[in-house]
Amino acid sequence: MSYKLFIPGPIAVSEKTLRAMAQPMIGHRSTDFVALYQAIQPKLQSLFATKDPVYLSTSSAWGVMEGAVRNLTRKKVLNCMNGAFSDKWNDVALRMGRAAGALKFEWGQPVDPDALRRELSTGAYDTVTLIHNETSTGTMSDLPAIAAVLREFPEVISIVDTVSSFSVLPIEKDALGIDVIITGSQKALAMPPGLALVSVSKRALERAAQSPDRGYYFDFIEFQKNHEQGMTPSTPVIPLIYALKSKLEDIEAEGVATRHARHLRLNEAVRAWGQAKGFKLFPEPRYGSRSLNCFANTLGYDLAALNKTLKSKHHLVIDGGYGKLKGKTFRISNMGDETDDTIAQLIAALDSALVTTPKVVA
Ligand SMILES: Cc1ncc(COP(=O)(O)O)c(C=O)c1O
Repeated sequence: MSYKLFIPGPIAVSEKTLRAMAQPMIGHRSTDFVALYQAIQPKLQSLFATKDPVYLSTSSAWGVMEGAVRNLTRKKVLNCMNGAFSDKWNDVALRMGRAAGALKFEWGQPVDPDALRRELSTGAYDTVTLIHNETSTGTMSDLPAIAAVLREFPEVISIVDTVSSFSVLPIEKDALGIDVIITGSQKALAMPPGLALVSVSKRALERAAQSPDRGYYFDFIEFQKNHEQGMTPSTPVIPLIYALKSKLEDIEAEGVATRHARHLRLNEAVRAWGQAKGFKLFPEPRYGSRSLNCFANTLGYDLAALNKTLKSKHHLVIDGGYGKLKGKTFRISNMGDETDDTIAQLIAALDSALVTTPKVVA
């Protein structure tokens, strides 16, 4: 049975994007590949708002999230933790044997710039990781305010995960002075999973060059050397790069500002629907994500039953809560190619399905 994904990644992929993938293979050392790589590079740099290169990694985002720490942390990394993915980054750093500090916030709280400043002032750290949009809780931190703090500590390299916010709202890499920005293909770019994008600053490359144990597959220096030739270090996922080219053309045709406005409008439509029904947003509304809405299940619905009806009768699925929030929250994505019409259809389906959904909590 086919159904449409309104979970916060992977999300629905258009026929056009799928068709773009179905093209004959080319050699990854051929002039055709170099032309493909070089055609998309300026579009990517424009979307990242950076003059830095944007590398294409054949992996999910975690590959480069782990790789960035491996490349850049010599002394100690500070992991800002406010949800499932940012918490795990600390675990990943420790598993690699890196010294790692934990700056913890309650799930549903954003990263607090003042707390970050206090911790960095200890001088213990040479790297920071943070997640702009914690998908697990639908919480978006104030990146410009955080970036302003990070600029006070020029010895600290910043690694920012924009996996579920990239292309949803403006993220001005160079203006903010962020060293490394990471995203993945299966979220707002509305492509299948398997490709991660990472833009790396010059000073981050200089740090990486001094790191003796960068490994190979995610070595930023290898990425840079190959980038200069219009290539990737190893055989990349060429079908996804075809899809990326097609998607970047779509974004250009829509206009980035129009795209951002569309995401905001659709996000507010879903938020208004949920709040009118009596659900509370899980984070404080001013920190609510713009690519998804995470609602607290304040009305006590049986979310598994809700999703069963949505899937069987309306051919779509939402998310019933991530990790320790399973059953307690539900998440609805407005990323990618959604329109006023498709969001209106989703809302109508939710309204209809809720009528027959039992409540598990009195
Ligand atoms: C904010 C964020 N970071 C990282 C990841 C991990 O991405 P992947 O599973 O593609 O490696 C996710 C996945 O949902 C995410 O939402």
